[in-house]
Amino acid sequence: MDATDQTLFGPHKGLHYEQFLARLSRNAAVERYLEIGVARGAVFAQVACRHGIGVDPEFTLTANIAANKTRVSLYQVMSDVFFRHLRLRRDLGGRIDLAFLDGMHLFEFLLRDVMNTEAISRRDSILCLHDCLPLAAPMAERDPMRAQARSQGTPYANWWTGDVWKVVPILAKYRPDLTVMLVDAAPTGLVVITGLDPSSKVLKKNYDAIVRAFSEMPNDADGIARMYAAHTLVPAEEALRRLSGRSYRHGRGGFLRRLVG
Ligand SMILES: C[S@@+](CC[C@H](N)C(=O)[O-])C[C@H]1O[C@@H](n2cnc3c(N)ncnc32)[C@H](O)[C@@H]1O
Repeated sequence: MDATDQTLFGPHKGLHYEQFLARLSRNAAVERYLEIGVARGAVFAQVACRHGIGVDPEFTLTANIAANKTRVSLYQVMSDVFFRHLRLRRDLGGRIDLAFLDGMHLFEFLLRDVMNTEAISRRDSILCLHDCLPLAAPMAERDPMRAQARSQGTPYANWWTGDVWKVVPILAKYRPDLTVMLVDAAPTGLVVITGLDPSSKVLKKNYDAIVRAFSEMPNDADGIARMYAAHTLVPAEEALRRLSGRSYRHGRGGFLRRLVG
């Protein structure tokens, strides 16, 4: 173990990411919320919206995911399969307002989730990415077993973020038109993307070249430190303030909404 195995950055002291997403969903009066990677449903249950859409190849639900919602749709498939078969109007009724991307923790998977979700969002929608702000290099290992082995004896034993942090420099290089905010949400940060362009094909067109180039980028303490150095870390409360003033409740909300008010 070297010194950078211990702590590279952090701990992130801001609001816990679950509370951040719960408050964000209420502030913005979200109509449609998409969560990729739902697991037990801890976050999903707390998010308030009319229609919650969850995607996970293996749900392990223990929370009341119907809480705070009129309608819930679950897709027990990998996100790539969900996006491939999705007919937006027919299946979801319209575009996504808020998304939380927390599925497979490898950068090429998250990159696909970002580009596919942007395509079904609005210009003023919000995408939140989990685990992109690792606190030490071992948790960023691509292989969770290696992360487990390397993290023993550190303050973050058994933590795994994977190498999804690489999506931050990818967006900086290929999508400087997006507003990307690194949020100091505990425990492993949130990346919030706004100023979307659902018609953009830049990531799709360059996907293979991006994956080749960024696979070569070292997934180590120096690489992660450069990512932090290139951005300002925004306190969670300040991030919520910056995201305030949005409201996605435009129409009456369809059949169920008319029934339950
Ligand atoms: C960290 S957990 C999600 C936790 C949840 N978002 C929360 O904070 O309460 C990651 C989940 O992603 C799911 N997952 C793995 N690969 C996926 C994929 N390709 N598409 C969608 N979900 C995936 C796993 O089954 C797992 O349940």
